[in-house]
Amino acid sequence: HKVVFPVAGLGTRFLPATKVVAKEMLPVLDKPLIQYAVDEAVDAGADTLIFVTNRYKHAIADYFDKAYELESKLQEKGKDELLALVQGTLPKHVRAIFVTQPEALGLGHAVLCAKPVVGDEPFGVVLPDDLIWNGAIGSGKGALRQMAELADAQQAGVIAVEEVPHDQTDKYGIVDAAPIDERSALIRYMVEKPKPADAPSNLAVVGRYVLPGRIFQLLEQTTPGAGGEIQLTDAIDALLKEQGKVLAYRFEGIRFDCGNKAGLVRATMHMA
Ligand code: G1P
Repeated sequence: HKVVFPVAGLGTRFLPATKVVAKEMLPVLDKPLIQYAVDEAVDAGADTLIFVTNRYKHAIADYFDKAYELESKLQEKGKDELLALVQGTLPKHVRAIFVTQPEALGLGHAVLCAKPVVGDEPFGVVLPDDLIWNGAIGSGKGALRQMAELADAQQAGVIAVEEVPHDQTDKYGIVDAAPIDERSALIRYMVEKPKPADAPSNLAVVGRYVLPGRIFQLLEQTTPGAGGEIQLTDAIDALLKEQGKVLAYRFEGIRFDCGNKAGLVRATMHMA
């Protein structure tokens, strides 16, 4: 029911646009990146969306807020289709909560900032940079819904993975996992951004997680790791060490890495 969106990054790869526009508000065709992430979370059954943000990201809150003036103008002019688009950014049963991450201390730290809102129930994490498309919502199951169903059936944490070229392991969290079936595997351990020579496999974590509330206590004990940052990967590895069950899941759908220019262009072409 609860999904965390860590969106406090500076978006330096898209400067100068991101000097004033939050990276998550960059459009993929006609929708901002964050909308694809939110649609996927709502499709998975989320009713509480927690955005971990910072002082430069007010546009995200504004985007999901009601736009009274615009809505009444569209209504007056009978532009019903446009009105539906403007009102449809967040379904009525879904609430958005904004939490600030006061310092950029890493993904693990960003997720930990959501602890007071999530409590100790299982929750989802979606990194909006990774746009995963499995046909329009409604035609194919979104990746997070696939994962939530598996987490529920197996009473386990679930992390989305994808094979990446061996020379790119240092850009991802990498898992060592024992296959269960063609889509899922039991993770033995995981490591953040290993050099290709040290990587246990080329199975990389992409930006979707279903995690137990226990992860928050482990994050509180996690010390800075790769890049001097508090890594979510390290806390999940600690969960595995205390016998936590976490599955790696090869989702159905295509992933676009919209954290870089080529990926954003590819996603846009695909949607077009
Ligand atoms: C984060 C995670 C990494 C994961 C990646 C997926 O890294 O730390 O484990 O593989 O997202 O996009 P980042 O891309 O924020 O450096």
